Amino acid sequence: MNAPDQIVPVLAVDGPSGSGKGTICRRVAEQMNWRLLDSGALYRLTAVAAGRHGVALDDGPALARLAAGLEVEFGADEGGGEQVLLEGRDVTGEIRSETCGNEASKVAAIPLVRAALVALQHRFRRLPGLVADGRDMGTVIFPDATSKVFLTASPEARAQRRYKQLIEKGFDANLVRLCTEIAERDERDRKREVSPLLAADDALVLDTTAMNIDQVVQRVLEHLRACLAESKRKY
Ligand code: DC
Repeated sequence: MNAPDQIVPVLAVDGPSGSGKGTICRRVAEQMNWRLLDSGALYRLTAVAAGRHGVALDDGPALARLAAGLEVEFGADEGGGEQVLLEGRDVTGEIRSETCGNEASKVAAIPLVRAALVALQHRFRRLPGLVADGRDMGTVIFPDATSKVFLTASPEARAQRRYKQLIEKGFDANLVRLCTEIAERDERDRKREVSPLLAADDALVLDTTAMNIDQVVQRVLEHLRACLAESKRKY
């Protein structure tokens, strides 16, 4: 059997907030020289766009219209750091705040919004390959992904990591409050009716509580390379 010309390999990485997905995906994408889809940023951007356009966070149809027409650019600033523009305005700091994360989680629970963002996410799938970071990458958006990983860690470890990240980015943070908010957000992400946070049946589940970043990156790369070799054997 020949491999169809247009099959672009995808590594789908899902897991709850603070499981290390963002860092791991960035590192793996760099190593493979693949594109990166930060799907959480799309929900965060929808929440920011709602604030800007005076749309209520429970107005599904209006939010879905905003999501479908998001004018967004992902790039790098002069120092090589992340830069995200919404309607031409730099919102890099704004979308990384905990307030925005909590709003994004509410917006992400609305089925119309999720449906409105599907096509945009599919457009990131281009050669030589895509690392997709999210909650439903392996289950809903890229069910045919070449390789799937589900990252977990204890709630305490995830709150600690988030705390460190926020302080490093210059945000105020309170560890106890973060722990509660992470638990609430997990509950909302796991229990929503559409695309709940869930490991795909064929995902490698990795508990990263006692692992450092290098160890996780290594393990994910090993798994990805094994899956790529396996998919080559099939064709
Ligand atoms: O990964 P993150 O913290 O940037 O995601 C922000 C919120 O968006 C999070 O609460 C869950 C939601 N989300 C989602 O429902 N589906 C995705 N594919 C990515 C994020």
